Amino acid sequence: MDASTIEAAESHYFTNNPPPKDLKVNITLAREFIGRHAEEGRRVVLVTSGGTTVPLESQTVRYIDNFSAGTRGATSAEYFLQHGYAVIFLHRQFSLLPYSRHYSHNTRSFLDFMKEEDGRVVVEEQHQEEMLRVLRQYTEMKRENKLLILSFVTITEYLWDLREVAKLMRPLGPKAMFYLAAAVSDFFVPQDRMVEHKIQSSVQFSQSSGGPNGSKNEKPPAARTEGRSLIIDLEPVPKFLKQLVDGWAPEGMIVSFKLETDPSILVKKAQYSLNKYAHHLVIGNLLLTRKWEVVFVSNLEGEKWIRVPRNRRTKSFSGVESMVGLADLAAGKKDESNTQGNADHEVPQGEPAVEIESLIIPEIADMHTKLINQAQ
Ligand code: PMT
Repeated sequence: MDASTIEAAESHYFTNNPPPKDLKVNITLAREFIGRHAEEGRRVVLVTSGGTTVPLESQTVRYIDNFSAGTRGATSAEYFLQHGYAVIFLHRQFSLLPYSRHYSHNTRSFLDFMKEEDGRVVVEEQHQEEMLRVLRQYTEMKRENKLLILSFVTITEYLWDLREVAKLMRPLGPKAMFYLAAAVSDFFVPQDRMVEHKIQSSVQFSQSSGGPNGSKNEKPPAARTEGRSLIIDLEPVPKFLKQLVDGWAPEGMIVSFKLETDPSILVKKAQYSLNKYAHHLVIGNLLLTRKWEVVFVSNLEGEKWIRVPRNRRTKSFSGVESMVGLADLAAGKKDESNTQGNADHEVPQGEPAVEIESLIIPEIADMHTKLINQAQ
């Protein structure tokens, strides 16, 4: 697609899919936050996190969603803060948040971490140390005002927020970074093909077969019942990565993610994305091993795997450890980093688990330093 076609797609999307109600508030908050940190010469990263929904009705009862809990984004935000970044955390409402993530969305209730003592609530002894550590980091971050939390629910809200915040970040020049970890919908129901009211499941109450406004000449609603079936005919969401790279934030470092389930295509797809959008870094990850391994694909450093040593891996209910290293093998490479340094005698058993984001963020911060130096 040439530049004018991409611009036309952008204009069409944002003209036909109205902005979220809280966009103005978000812009005001972001402008103040970015201005303050720019003045202090700090790097600012926009971390996107969680899944976007695709509503099927204007007064939304039903929507399409995806699996993302926001672990990658919320965890990464903490490590960016530790590395001196100011963080704009654009996340799916009610997905994981930095710091509180340690005690939410858990198989255990947060109340299980507490007990009553002399009529007061206290933290159970075995959780004191860890909770104190998290609380101290949280309090420090609040005191320094380094985290701005913004939220979206739908794909359209996400794209409006991304575009407007990206434009506000332009004055930061190369000190801006975009870390796009949100799981973004590829298909959606455009506003002009969306019915107003709840789609009826029973034939007696289902709407007319005309368009969303009832006219026979319009395209039918994208989601509708036909007989007893629900038909959903989604349209592609334009990929705005190109716009981000070329137009919205041309000087910032852009890190996108590539999620796949098939190990044999992960690296190829990440490479394809890097070539197509010409940004700085694609981080490839597989659904079932994403907490233990990722692959960096960049022009600066080529292909580079990052893996958590075997006996330091976090637990994952959905993860499949035997799949770690398969994408390497699929690319015909020897899986050295999967075994290197991982023998049990080298890392004592019982050591605390390592979150892969604690390995990812320092690498990215180093790349960012190189890019800032190059720009200067
Ligand atoms: O939240 P967790 O459970 O921890 O999971 C983390 C994660 C697996 C969601 C995360 O690590 C991840 O891979 N996020 C990106 C998922 C994704 O949208 O992949 P994709 O291959 O569909 O898109 C690739 C890139 O294109 C993304 O960076 C996205 O920002 C961008 N995109 C996608 C769709 C779209 N319509 N426009 C886009 O610009």
